[in-house]
Amino acid sequence: MSNGRSRFWSVLGTLVVGAVIGVAGVALTTEMVHQTSTVEFCGSACHSMQWVRDAYKRGPHYSNSVGVRAGCADCHIPYESGHANPFQYVGLMMYKAKAGTRDVIAEVSGKMSTREQWEKLRPELSNNYKTWMKEHGSLTCRGCHDLKAFGGENAEMKAMIHADVIKAEKPDCLQCHESVGHVYEEPKKAAAAPAK
Ligand code: HEC
Ligand code: HEC
Ligand code: HEC
Repeated sequence: MSNGRSRFWSVLGTLVVGAVIGVAGVALTTEMVHQTSTVEFCGSACHSMQWVRDAYKRGPHYSNSVGVRAGCADCHIPYESGHANPFQYVGLMMYKAKAGTRDVIAEVSGKMSTREQWEKLRPELSNNYKTWMKEHGSLTCRGCHDLKAFGGENAEMKAMIHADVIKAEKPDCLQCHESVGHVYEEPKKAAAAPAK
């Protein structure tokens, strides 16, 4: 009897300790997933990203009229802008581990450490992402944008323009909005003041 009782307590103890470790583990992982997704981390951990980051800062998602910023991860990491169920969350961590390792390997092996090397790789990287987005119905854009939610001025026009996109099973936003993330052209120098 007393034996059964101490077994009960040891099982309960194990469960409690397990739960505490589990919660701490989830909290830590979430923090790590979050930290490695910030604009600072993505835009500077590998210096080859500096040109990408500069182009991002020229785009409408860095600063805009409503003061809502989309970070690198919001567009590039699935479910960052939306919500993931636990299964998707595990998938997300695997995606991050894979994407992260690939980026680090490219950086470390010096395949992308100069501007010239990056310029050469850019079309391929850009296409990889666009293909992924097409296959996944522009998942990350739709975490923030709901094409049925346009209001204000020109709302009807915007609804009309997107009528087919809304119906599409896998909308491909980048087909028409390719440069929303990065604007590669350097801004033109302000035109000289006209001679009086
Ligand atoms: C609003 C969504 C959005 C945000 C925010 C965003 N991107 Fe992108 N990114 C895109 C799109 C769309 C493309 C594909 C078109 C292109 O190449 O510009 C792309 C392409 C890229 C590429 C491959 C092409 C290249 O230029 O090398 C890299 C790398 C990249 N992004 C990294 C980043 C990093 C790092 C950040 C944050 C500093 C960031 N992105 C922020 C949408 C975004
Ligand atoms: C974190 C949320 C978020 C994500 C993710 C996001 N956007 Fe945006 N987007 C915004 C905000 C906020 C604005 C600015 C709205 C404004 O200025 O009125 C904006 C602006 C835009 C605009 C208008 C840009 C302009 O020229 O002024 C387009 C087009 C757009 N987004 C498309 C996209 C596409 C395509 C994606 C996916 C690659 C995407 N967005 C991802 C929040 C987001
Ligand atoms: C067939 C082309 C096409 C597709 C596909 C498309 N759009 Fe658009 N979108 C337009 C055009 C054209 C406009 C109006 C001109 C502009 O602002 O760029 C527009 C406007 C917008 C605006 C408002 C911009 C502003 O300045 O108010 C947002 C936000 C936007 N689109 C998001 C998206 C998102 C998110 C997707 C994918 C789910 C998408 N669009 C797919 C053509 C398209």
